[in-house]
Parts: sequence; structure tokens; C-alpha cells
Amino acid sequence: MRNETYDIVVIGSGIAGLSYAIRCADFAKVLIVTKGNIGESNTMYAQGGIAAVLDDKDSIENHISDTLTAGDNHCNKDCVRLLAENAKDAILYLEQLSVNFNKTDNGTFDLHREGGHSHARIVHHADATGKEVESALVNVVKNNTNITIYENYFAIDLLVKENKCYGALIFKSDSEEFLQVNAKVTMLASGGLGQVFLQNTNPDVATGDGFAMAYRAGAEMEDMEFVQFHPTTLFARKGRTFLITEALRGFGAILKNSKGETFMENVHPLSSLAPRDIVSRAIIQEMNKDNSEFVYLDATKLDRESLEKHFPNIFERCLLEGLDISKDMIPVVPAAHYMCGGIKTDLHARSSIENLYACGECAATGVHGANRLASNSLLEGIVFAKQAANDTQQKIQETFTSAIFGNLEYKTPEVNCEECKQEVGALKRYLQAQMWRNCGIVRTESKLTYCFEELDELQEKTEKDLCENGFSIATMELLNMVTCSKLIVEAALKRTESKGCHYRAD
Ligand code: FAD
Ligand code: SIN
Repeated sequence: MRNETYDIVVIGSGIAGLSYAIRCADFAKVLIVTKGNIGESNTMYAQGGIAAVLDDKDSIENHISDTLTAGDNHCNKDCVRLLAENAKDAILYLEQLSVNFNKTDNGTFDLHREGGHSHARIVHHADATGKEVESALVNVVKNNTNITIYENYFAIDLLVKENKCYGALIFKSDSEEFLQVNAKVTMLASGGLGQVFLQNTNPDVATGDGFAMAYRAGAEMEDMEFVQFHPTTLFARKGRTFLITEALRGFGAILKNSKGETFMENVHPLSSLAPRDIVSRAIIQEMNKDNSEFVYLDATKLDRESLEKHFPNIFERCLLEGLDISKDMIPVVPAAHYMCGGIKTDLHARSSIENLYACGECAATGVHGANRLASNSLLEGIVFAKQAANDTQQKIQETFTSAIFGNLEYKTPEVNCEECKQEVGALKRYLQAQMWRNCGIVRTESKLTYCFEELDELQEKTEKDLCENGFSIATMELLNMVTCSKLIVEAALKRTESKGCHYRAD
């Protein structure tokens, strides 16, 4: 097997991985490994923006308090303070890297408002903030000679011995080769796991590989029951789920049931802008009342010109569905969106395994607690990547011995058999349906127990497939999805109370 050595290997090329790599390239040779094209990530699809206190009438204490309230008092307060206090610097840092945020005519940041925020504090680039940020960061890493980028390389497992990480085992998809990457420091920045649910807002790459890799290596995991469901994704019978940003509700759009009646004012004082878990459950309740497939988001009272200016992508996408949002109400449903828990990390993004850091959505810093405040996620990625980079700079001075790994269990590369691929696809859809039905917005012990048994069977099948048919990325992703699902269901069973985005009807 090919063997390469770097100071640092970063798994994932979203906001967390890229911003960490950029900072570390000042003092180290960095390899970024990413399983698709470099831009493909949750970051790329982020719409609303990044939370930061930039208005005199707002305060860091307000941002902290809103984050703690959304997190249902399950957050790590030190981490939340660190996040809020560093938000302004994070925005200025992104500007230095050529990210272009919308400004008012006075040259100040144009601030949007989102659910759970007591003030307008969302810095944005129209309704496609993620694309703007991701493109700028990709441009910077591509022009940095201390950074090597491996696109279409799939990280399979971490190389861990006696609780120390020495790098990662990687699979190169085009040449079907395995590669051992040795590194003094490994950063997992592999993003979310939305794909384990049938209805989700995430791109196909979000199969939870990083969570599963860390878990297999023995890392401590935390808060896996807290999956956040976004209340408003476009209801479409065919095609991919498309998010309708919360900022549209912050702009004045309101939720209505299938009869066209408002309902959120009876649920929460912030009405349509209540925290996401509350809005998602209220929507499900309305849908159940009259057996409807969706509720409506009504933006028709807003003027067409502003809608087109502030939400150009949503405007255009809805037009493709035959909806002019300045005249037609938008049919919406909730969908799985964000994992609040994950690989347990400290204030410096260190995991419980030596030399292994985790950052971004795959990490559980404790910032989000039981439910994430909108637009705190991109922010967490940048702020904790900086924490990790500072810590890495010290770590990298230590002497390094590379470990030798042999006897890999993976027998053969890529399964070429069409039937095998179809079967993996069918099993993936089965898993997604089970998780959506039994471990979704409203949970009960009996549904969770049933789901866990189904997952056990699926795990057995998938492991057998890997042994008999050899390694394939699709099978490995399925195994990772099963692992993540089991972690979620197990944690959901253990937490018998309702808290944040984890709701137990029993
Ligand atoms: P990602 O950006 O998901 O990057 C993960 C990377 O890891 C990807 O490049 C992926 O290909 C790679 N990877 C995964 N597994 C492997 C593997 N096995 N081998 C190699 N590479 C791998 N948050 C906000 O704060 N504001 C918003 O407005 C906002 N809007 C959102 C809208 C949508 C539609 C979605 C889906 C999310 C939104 N979020 C938002 C959440 C936010 O985008 C994510 O939480 C954040 O971008 C995660 O960044 P990350 O760097 O941790 O992971
Ligand atoms: C949105 O734009 O509604 C998503 C914001 C987020 O997930 O933080």
C-alpha cells in the first residue's frame, strides 16, 4: 500500500476543514482529503448566514443568552462565550479572505434576523452565504503551496493505537487504491449525517463518516440524540429537498396551516420565529390535525422587489416549481438538518484521542447543547478551527513517531457488480425510511426499540457484504450511516425526557 507523510491531515473540505488548513499552513505541511469535489459540503448549501454581534443595540450577552435558551440549558457556557466573543473577528477574518457579505448603503453589515435570535445579527451573502464562503476558502487553499488537496479520496478509518492517532486510511476512488497517510495531527472536519433521514436538507456526502470513524477508533461521543429538524423545506413530490431559509420568516413571512390559518401565535411568543424544535413540532401537529402533507409559508405580504433582492435563489427555485412567492404561498415541511452532538471535544477542539482534533458539525463542543441556534454553525466552524490551529502549532513541535500498520482487513477495492450497488442503494433507502419514521421529530420508546432492532440486522448484513464482496465506498457509507443511526437511537432511548430537539411523546 502507498504510504505518505504530512504534518497534518485534514479530513473534509467545508468551512471547518478549510479554515483550519489555511491557519495551519502558516507553520506546517497540510494535506486535505475530501471524498467528492472540494466544494461539495454542507457549507456550500448554507443559506441564512453567520451570527455575530455587529450592531450597537445588540450585545454579546444577548447572543450568549439566545444560544443558551435555544440549547435548552444543555450548552457548555465557556464554549458559548468563546463563540460569541469571537464572532466579530471571525467575520472580519472571512472578509480578509475575500468573502463578500451584503452591506447597507451606509457601509454597515446588512443584518438579517432568524429564529431564536432576539436581534437582527445574521451576516449574509443574499440567501447563498455558504456558497460565497466555501468558494472564497477553496480559492485560498488552492493557492497555498503548503496545502496539498486530494479530491475524490475517501477516508475509511483513523489509524489509532493505544488511544493515539497517527493519521488515516484513505481510498482513492478513480484508481481504486488504498493509501496510508501518516500525520502528527489529524483533524476530522467531515461534517454532518443528515443523509441518515429520508427527509433531509443535506447533500449526498453527509453520511456521517467522521462520527463513525471516531466511534470505531474509541473516541468519546456526546449528545447524539440531538438531531435538529429544520421547519421549512420546500415540499416537492419529486427531486431534492430544498431549504427555505429561516431568514425569510425573519423578513416577515409567516406560517399558515393547510386552511390558510396562522397557528404559531398560540404556540410561542416569538410566533413563526420561535426556536426550530418548537416550530417543527407545531408544524407536524398542524399536519396531523387535517392529515395534510405540508403547511404554508406565506411571503405574499412582502414586496416582490425585496424578495428578489434578498432571496434570489429561493425566488428562482420556487419559480421552477411554478410558485411566484410574492403571490403564492410556499408549501413547506420539516426535514432533518443538523447534528448538534458528535465527537466530544474541548475548548481547543481536542477529542478524547491524542493527536486527533474534531471541528465543525462532526464535533460536539457543547456550543449547541440540546438545540442549535440558527446560524451559529458556520461560526462554530471558524472559531473552533482557530482554537484547534493554535493548539496544533504547539503540538507539532513534539517529536513524532509514525506507527506501522499492516494487515488491513479490506480485501479488494470497489465492487463493480451492478446488483451489489443496487442492493446497497435499496438498503440505504430502507435505513433512511426507518430513521425518519421511528427516530424523527416525535419519538417513543416502542418506535425507538423497534428501530434499533432493524438497525442491528442491517449492520450484520452490511458487515457481511463488506467481508464477502470487498470494500466499496457505497457499502462503507452505508455501514457508517448504520453506526450513526445506532448511536442516535441508543442516545434517544436513554434520554427519557424531552429536551431541545429531542422530543419523547411518551
Ligand atoms: P461540511 O461543510 O459538511 O464539510 C464536510 C466535508 O467532509 C465535505 O467536504 C465532505 O465531502 C467531507 N467528507 C465527509 N466524509 C468524508 C470522508 N469519509 N472522506 C473524505 N471526506 C469526507 N449553518 C449556519 O451557520 N448558517 C446557515 O445559514 C446554514 N444554512 C444551512 C443550509 C443548509 C441547506 C444546510 C444543509 C446546512 C446549513 N447550515 C447553516 C449548517 C452548516 O452549513 C453546517 O453545519 C456547516 O457548514 C458544517 O461545516 P463543516 O465544515 O463541519 O462540514
Ligand atoms: C437557514 O438559513 O434557515 C439555515 C440557518 C442554519 O441552519 O443555521
